[in-house]
Amino acid sequence: MKPRVLVTRHVYPATIPILQEHCVVDYQDSHEVLDEARLQKRLQHAHGVVCQLTDPLHAATLAAAPQLRVISQIAVGVDNIDVAAATARRIVVTNTPGVLTEATADLTFALLLAVARRLPEAERFLRAGLWRRWEVDLLCGADVHGRTLGIVGFGRIGQAVARRARGFGMRVLYCNRSAPPADVETGLGALRVPLDLLLRESDFVSLHVPSTADTHHLIGVEQLCAMKRSAFLINTARGAVVDERALIAALEEGLIAGAGLDVFAAEPQVPAELLALPNVVLLPHVGSAVTSVRSLMCALAARDCVAVLTGERPHHAVNPEVL
Ligand code: GLV
Repeated sequence: MKPRVLVTRHVYPATIPILQEHCVVDYQDSHEVLDEARLQKRLQHAHGVVCQLTDPLHAATLAAAPQLRVISQIAVGVDNIDVAAATARRIVVTNTPGVLTEATADLTFALLLAVARRLPEAERFLRAGLWRRWEVDLLCGADVHGRTLGIVGFGRIGQAVARRARGFGMRVLYCNRSAPPADVETGLGALRVPLDLLLRESDFVSLHVPSTADTHHLIGVEQLCAMKRSAFLINTARGAVVDERALIAALEEGLIAGAGLDVFAAEPQVPAELLALPNVVLLPHVGSAVTSVRSLMCALAARDCVAVLTGERPHHAVNPEVL
């Protein structure tokens, strides 16, 4: 008998036949998010689930899915999944790293440039019909070229951001729990420093750590106070990495110059204070939102789901100890 797989939300169409070749698919072809109760009901008899970062896969939901063997997340971050509970139940959790690295690094740089050079503000100004003439001090922003970029978290995406920074003649500092191979550091011309030094020295601080208990509110009052008043914070990682209330206060009080945010603490809610600030650029979590990338992410998740259910080794297990 074919295993049963739940696809929780709308995906790129090519995903479904990959699953159907080996599984019976229960496809919720809608952008609506299933709440925990409905998720539990749909998972009751499922062996696999292809899910998204909006799906709450907490311990209670996993407990209500006694046959579940694999959770395949269409994303790199898996903070919506209780991985410890999954591991305890010997459920494999897979994610989709690699394919979205460059797109996310591109978006990070787009955000950095947009906030430094006030692009959304300038465009709003033009569309509002306010442009009268060229003026020497009209919509002037901050320099990017030659400035110091501090990268917090030097995994695939952090390193891809460092590669872009080289093209902008930036000095690159980074902090990371472990040191990458020496050739990576020299190849990228990046210097590993402690977080406090990175915060003090950087003109742009860009976050690229996963959301875990260790990184929760990694950037809070103390860290924001350590930054230069002229510095910008860029977050394309996860909202929980930043204490959003502390960030709002820092922006309102001018402790830092601005922020570029693609992620928020309680998505899709964006605090009204942030919406009211002119020195922030706000995006709706679109770091990897490139058609080719998102369809690859869907396919990768589907293939890893099938792999686990057919006894093969998945490419990207988050908890390989279960295999
Ligand atoms: C997107 O945010 C991801 O984690 O892939």
